[in-house]
Amino acid sequence: MNIRKSEEMYQVACGLMPGGVNSPVRAFGSVGRNPLFIDHGKGSHIYDVDGNDYIDYVCSWGPGILGHAHPEVVEAVVRACYDGLTFGAPTGKETRLAQLVQECIPSMEMMRMVNSGTEATMSAIRAARGFTGRDKIIKFKGCYHGHSDGLLVQAGSAALTQSVPDSGGVPASYAQQTLVALYNDKDSVRELFDNNKDQIAAIIVEPVAANMGVVLPEDDFLPFLREITEENGAILIFDEVITGFRLGIGGAQEWFGVKPDMTTLGKIVGGGMPMAVYGGRKDIMEKVAPLGKVYQAGTLSGNPIATTAGIKTIELLKAQPDLYTRIEANTDKLAEAFRARAEKYGLDLHINKIGSLMSAFFTDQDVKDYAGAVSADTEAYAEYFGYMLENGIYVAPSQFEAMFVSGAHSDEDIKKTIQVLTD
Ligand SMILES: Cc1ncc(COP(=O)(O)O)c(C=O)c1O
Repeated sequence: MNIRKSEEMYQVACGLMPGGVNSPVRAFGSVGRNPLFIDHGKGSHIYDVDGNDYIDYVCSWGPGILGHAHPEVVEAVVRACYDGLTFGAPTGKETRLAQLVQECIPSMEMMRMVNSGTEATMSAIRAARGFTGRDKIIKFKGCYHGHSDGLLVQAGSAALTQSVPDSGGVPASYAQQTLVALYNDKDSVRELFDNNKDQIAAIIVEPVAANMGVVLPEDDFLPFLREITEENGAILIFDEVITGFRLGIGGAQEWFGVKPDMTTLGKIVGGGMPMAVYGGRKDIMEKVAPLGKVYQAGTLSGNPIATTAGIKTIELLKAQPDLYTRIEANTDKLAEAFRARAEKYGLDLHINKIGSLMSAFFTDQDVKDYAGAVSADTEAYAEYFGYMLENGIYVAPSQFEAMFVSGAHSDEDIKKTIQVLTD
């Protein structure tokens, strides 16, 4: 595999950006390689600057549910560009996107658009604090909600791979407001409520954890979170930045039938552009400025180009109800191929899967929580990653990220991937 140009570009980038990248996981650090520089993408494939062609199962970490450069999304975006890139004033496109989001996720009675998942979760927590008048929040070990100070406590994703669960530069006093419970462990949540009576503003949770690899909630876990927050006057925030429009048009809350007070969306809602949304109960969102005293703003928030990409993407998803069934069936086929590989080579492998989200953990344990996830053999994962890459298949460069299947993956792509997995 010739990656000479990628290597050259990486050396230059390293002098200009920390680790040569603009987001840590892209550096390939946990798989012991240097990153590939991508030239372009089309449908289910990406092409690096050396001309290598890969079937892409990263899909930009989730947004690419329709594949790269979907012609209708691109056309809509290009047309929107000619009308102006940003005005800092309201447009009808924001209202149209909000209506679409609300149709799909009715619990989002009122919402605000922002530019990243980080902003969405940070702002949702501020609104929950403003509404309840309380300071503390509960998050779960191994869940990732972006990089705002108070949420970089036992975070997942790249922070997990790099063994720096508490980031440098985060004042200890901020972190103290964040209580950490264990995913799928109800007692750990009960204990925090018992020890912090009337002080907890909110629980924030990934309804399906997807930043310690994919870890599914046990049957009664999300209903339990709903109950305990109600009992204690705390706000339940579902961080659906990954699961929103991924598990289905109504996200995880529709899949599991549990209605949160607030929801955060990112990734797919922007169709590949910088766009995220937070929202939920009207009485909470009415606390946000200019209606209320919870301040939150953004020069580029709800800008017409990102909203156009989001609108077109959601319209296309709504118009193809069979898409979710198809990508789930393809993900099932890939899961089977992983199992066949494990059997053939006597590998310790555990597959966690829901909808089109999947992780193959290199461990002999069931992975139901953070401890199970980190029992995985990251060296075995790095070996698997290299093997897939050299055979034209681009999977996440970390054991603790999900594999994303998109509507653009063709039968041929799936067949080739299965062949590589089972060879
Ligand atoms: C569940 C979840 N929440 C929040 C975020 C942060 O989103 P962003 O990277 O757009 O800031 C991510 C990013 O991967 C995420 O997976």
